Amino acid sequence: MTVLVTGGAGYIGSHTCVELLKNDYDVVVVDNLCNSSEISLRRVAELTGKAPCFYRCDVRDTAALSDVFRRHEIGCVIHFAGLKAVGESVQKPLAYYENNLGSTMTLCRVMLEHGVKQLVFSSSATVYAGNNPMPLSEESRTGDCSNPYGWTKYMCEIILSDIARATPGFSVALLRYFNPVGAHESGRLGEDPSGIPNNLMPFISQTAVGQRRELSVFGNDYDTPDGTGVRDYLHVVDLARGHVAAMDYLKAHEGAAVFNLGTGRGTSVLEMVHAFERVNGVAVPYRITERRAGDLATVYADPKRSEQILHWRAERTLEDMCRDSWRWQSQNPRGYQSGD
Ligand code: NAD
Ligand code: WQD
Repeated sequence: MTVLVTGGAGYIGSHTCVELLKNDYDVVVVDNLCNSSEISLRRVAELTGKAPCFYRCDVRDTAALSDVFRRHEIGCVIHFAGLKAVGESVQKPLAYYENNLGSTMTLCRVMLEHGVKQLVFSSSATVYAGNNPMPLSEESRTGDCSNPYGWTKYMCEIILSDIARATPGFSVALLRYFNPVGAHESGRLGEDPSGIPNNLMPFISQTAVGQRRELSVFGNDYDTPDGTGVRDYLHVVDLARGHVAAMDYLKAHEGAAVFNLGTGRGTSVLEMVHAFERVNGVAVPYRITERRAGDLATVYADPKRSEQILHWRAERTLEDMCRDSWRWQSQNPRGYQSGD
């Protein structure tokens, strides 16, 4: 079967291409490279011995996307393409609504025109409202998002659920990722943020490699065991495997289904820093600073539904995440710009 992966040159998309090719799917990637490099796809080919078929275009370009559907007999789509920086979404809300909603709607229209009815969607734990008890199950309250990025994911979930309800034979898996970190164990694929990283793990690894002077730990007065924020970090390869599991589920089910992809375990900022230092034998200088606006003290998943229905479970440990992030960062200090 051929799988169309939108945003397949990006961080999670490139790791998912590897898992799909390993599982004998043919892979077609559509990506406009607004936040990625084609080098990632060359490395996917190097790791698997099979090259994804790549189209550099915007998912919102109806004519270009239709052409891809005409050329390939697509069986399923995994939709990663989108903008994902929380802070930037507050500065540029229109760009986020246009890109994330526009790409999803254009994609669905072209899919339906070509009779393609299986879709895996990249949603986020950010769709959960801030005042839920932990852990977060798929039944926890959603909405009250604190930024436009979160609202785009929330709105896409509604759009896709409505389309599934109205379209016989349509099935969509809404995957709510918690905090993806780590890299392919080869060190050839990883997260390559442009500019100053927004997320904890790339900031830690860039500090360890000497590109940043020190990590700012955003607050140590939260109601958590060591006062720093607690999150559910999962290895990106486990997350990629979750997409293959979701595709298997879609083959036998109609309608919309929501799944948390997380480990069910919380790790604090300082636990992560110290694990990274211990596992890799490197120093991560840090300083405690003010809380970051909008952050919650503790967020972690209840992953039971994914375990029971998708037969998926995150297997890699915190040590694996730290080791693989460091291998990627140290072998590619400037990300994909470090060369082939
Ligand atoms: P990423 O930026 O590395 O990948 C997204 C890819 O989409 C990039 O390659 C980018 O060039 C491409 N893209 C963006 N808009 C496009 C468009 N209109 N047309 C074609 N290509 C386009 O991000 P990622 O971390 O791999 O995230 C993938 C998806 O998962 C995103 O939808 C993101 O919102 C979601 N997600 C990410 C996280 C995370 O922490 N990384 C957590 C939850 C959800
Ligand atoms: C993790 C912890 C910070 C950076 C975000 C999005 C979410 C999802 C994943 C897309 C928090 C602390 C961080 C730093 C720090 N993305 N921190 N110093 O905020 O849980 O989730 O990414 O869907 O939508 O909101 O992840 O990695 O930014 O932060 O102390 O330099 O690390 O305060 O406790 P977050 P994060």
